[in-house]
Amino acid sequence: MLEQIVEPLLGWFGEHARILPWREQPQPYRVWVSEIMLQQTRVEAVKPFFERFTQALPDVRSLAECPEDKLLKLWEGLGYYNRVRNMQKAARNMVEFYDGEMPADYEKLLGLPGIGPYTAGAVASIAFEIPVPAVDGNVLRVITRITQNDGDILKQSVKRQVEEELLAVMPKGRSGAFNQALMELGATVCVPNGAPKCEECPLSGVCLAHQNGKEMDYPKKAQK
Ligand code: ADE
Ligand code: SF4
Repeated sequence: MLEQIVEPLLGWFGEHARILPWREQPQPYRVWVSEIMLQQTRVEAVKPFFERFTQALPDVRSLAECPEDKLLKLWEGLGYYNRVRNMQKAARNMVEFYDGEMPADYEKLLGLPGIGPYTAGAVASIAFEIPVPAVDGNVLRVITRITQNDGDILKQSVKRQVEEELLAVMPKGRSGAFNQALMELGATVCVPNGAPKCEECPLSGVCLAHQNGKEMDYPKKAQK
């Protein structure tokens, strides 16, 4: 049934996508920086940090060579400093092994420090149009609602299942937009706390949880 979300979701994203600096100029390095910043920080808060960081360090090489005190200063306000330390390690690996460029290969991205399945999927799809999913908490919530998946989203097996379901319907040549549309829908419409805004949702005709009035029962998390 998930193939039914592709067209309405892409249509909605075409109209509602926010204009963001890393969308205007989606070079792989910029997509990577944005995805790392967005892991613990909201889109609106990330924007000024992203502009400052990418102006000071516009590419992999400048990040690889940046002195630590300057690097930490550029990250000040974002917290979780291991993120930027890992980024510098990854940048140094790219200088050593990939000629100072981000590799256009999901497995190679996954092998770099600080890049897990979500970030590898996001960079591969958004920057390189490689058809792989990018499943974060937002996407898990949207998909478990649409499919009424009763699995515990804290389990790796449930995340893998969602990744497989999405991989099967990934639109060729639009995988970057498709992944970003799912993230954006989760951030702005199919929201976590309080009621999702189903009346504004392009997927309400397909969504099983909505049809059964069970939106608020998903995603399921095991009781602690
Ligand atoms: N959250 C994380 N990555 C995102 C992206 N590329 N677009 C919108 N929200 C996001
Ligand atoms: Fe989420 Fe409601 Fe849309 Fe279903 S219809 S995906 S619950 S916003």
